[in-house]
Amino acid sequence: MSCASCHTSDPKREGLTPAYRKIGPMAPVVNPQRFTDSRKVEKWFRRNCDDVLSRECTPLEKGDFLTFMASIR
Ligand code: HEC
Repeated sequence: MSCASCHTSDPKREGLTPAYRKIGPMAPVVNPQRFTDSRKVEKWFRRNCDDVLSRECTPLEKGDFLTFMASIR
């Protein structure tokens, strides 16, 4: 399992959970609600990093991810 398993490899596209629940696109350029609620961001980082990596993501990894998402135009 990777982040793209649910979020797809294109952050501008809608994702899908294994239970076929839709996930809105990750890129703020198409989904302005993204990363606006720090409690939500932290909650999902914890959960998803644990699912994919069996550990929490480091602050550096989270920063890199957010910088990458914010750079998508
Ligand atoms: C098992 C499916 C799944 C996997 C794998 C997954 N995610 Fe997610 N992710 C979700 C769901 C469901 C949500 C919450 C629904 C939503 O925000 O649309 C979410 C939300 C998020 C959020 C919160 C976005 C916000 O608006 O605050 C972040 C950040 C995130 N995921 C990052 C990751 C990263 C990084 C990985 C890989 C380490 C990953 N996800 C892997 C399903 C997944």
